Amino acid sequence: MKNSRVIVALDFPAADAALAFAASVSPADCRLKIGKELFTAAGPALVETLSKQGFDIFLDLKFHDIPNTVAGACKAAAQLGVWMLNVHASGGRAMMEAARKALGDAPDRPRLIAVTLLTSMGAREIGEVGILGDAPEAVRRLARLTQASGLDGVVCSAQEAAMLRAECGKDFCLVTPGIRPASASKDDQQRVMTPAAAVAAGADYLVIGRPVTQASDPVATLAAINSEINSGKTV
Ligand code: C5P
Repeated sequence: MKNSRVIVALDFPAADAALAFAASVSPADCRLKIGKELFTAAGPALVETLSKQGFDIFLDLKFHDIPNTVAGACKAAAQLGVWMLNVHASGGRAMMEAARKALGDAPDRPRLIAVTLLTSMGAREIGEVGILGDAPEAVRRLARLTQASGLDGVVCSAQEAAMLRAECGKDFCLVTPGIRPASASKDDQQRVMTPAAAVAAGADYLVIGRPVTQASDPVATLAAINSEINSGKTV
C-alpha cells in the first residue's frame, strides 16, 4: 500500500543514480520527486519508467506561464502518469484554473498543488519584486488564492503548516520540504523541522532529499523516518 508520507527528492544529475535509488526501495516506502535538474537531464522517459515501477511521482516543474501553455503542460504531465504536479501561485487565478481544468475530474487524476513564495526569498527580495506585505501574509494570501482556484494544496515550509492548516481547512494538501531528522545535517536549509514535528504541525507529505539520498544507508534511514512518522516520536 502506498501510504508513506515521505516524498524522496531525486536531486540527481542523471537517470542512473535515480534508477539505482528506486531499485533499492519499494513504492510502499516512499513517493519520488523529480525536479527541474533531473527532468531536464533524463526527460519524460524516466518519469514513465519510475511510474510504471509503481512509484507515485511528484513532477516538481513549478509551471508559470500563460494559462493556455500551463494547461497544455499539465495535460502532458498527466499523460506521463504522474501522481502530483505543481505550478506557481503567482501565475494567477486564470492560470491555476486552466491548469486544474486540464487535469479533468477522474478520481485518479494527478493532484495539483502550487508554490506560494519561494522560501529562498528574503524580505528584501519579496519587496523588490513588488509583493505586498511580509512573507507570512503573502503566503497566506497566495494559499487562499490557490484554494479558491480549485487546486488541491500548496508546497510550504513546515513552519507555515499550522497556520495554513487553520486557514485552509483539513482537506487542503500541505507538502513540506526543509525536513531534517534530529540526527541529520541541515545542509543549506535554514529553518528545518523533524519529520514527526512537521506531521504534528499539519503536513500531509514531507519532501526529503539529502538526509535519505546521501545517507550511508538510505534504505535504513528511510525506514527510520517512516517509523518516526508512524509513531509520532522523534528518533
Ligand atoms: O535535500 P533536501 O531535503 O534539502 O531537499 C529538499 C527538496 O525540496 C529539494 O528538491 C528542494 O529543491 C525542494 N524544495 C525546498 N524548499 C522549497 C521548495 C522546494 O527545499 N521551498
